[in-house]
Amino acid sequence: MKKKTVSGVIKDLQRILIDEKAIEKRIREMAAEISAECTGKVVTVVALMDGSLFFVADLLRRIDLPIKLVTLCASSYHGTKSTGKLTVNWPANISFKDETVLLLDDILDTGLTLSEIRAHIESHQPAWLRCGVLLSKRRERAREVTSEYIGFEIEDEFVVGYGMDYNGRFRNLPCIGVLQLDSAD
Ligand code: IMP
Ligand code: MG
Repeated sequence: MKKKTVSGVIKDLQRILIDEKAIEKRIREMAAEISAECTGKVVTVVALMDGSLFFVADLLRRIDLPIKLVTLCASSYHGTKSTGKLTVNWPANISFKDETVLLLDDILDTGLTLSEIRAHIESHQPAWLRCGVLLSKRRERAREVTSEYIGFEIEDEFVVGYGMDYNGRFRNLPCIGVLQLDSAD
């Protein structure tokens, strides 16, 4: 049987929400804003895997500052729903005291992930702490949390691509789209 190519995977989308060009343009703008705000600092970036992999890789390469990268694996989703429970693999002996910290995730949904991780980093007394997400869903949050940098606001629907998955699949789409759920299995 012929293997599915990336463009074959795009056929599983109901529609494309944000195309590659628009993502690239917005990430350049976000990188410029962050570079200007953090001039003269070494930035500790805390990136939440796996969803933010592509966003972080593209954003960081456009930030013209010294960066230390910390990756954490955080998960709370099963299928298209949040389980309400967050699992995070905090490394032993991690400290953010007096550091300039930028916490990055792919998407802000219920707020559970960013609020818990942001509070944990805050408890280490960083000198400066901001959050950035590529997408923010327009919906009521289960937990209030601020993200100072937002790429795009989207409606409350399940999206995949550019790092975001449905049960582990579709992360490698170069665009962000809404899944045709009957073709997702
Ligand atoms: P929150 O904790 O509910 O705000 O959700 C954040 C996490 O849920 C993100 O880091 C994503 O991994 C995942 N997530 C939320 N919405 C979506 C979606 O529409 N598609 C894929 N993953 C999502
Ligand atoms: Mg995630």
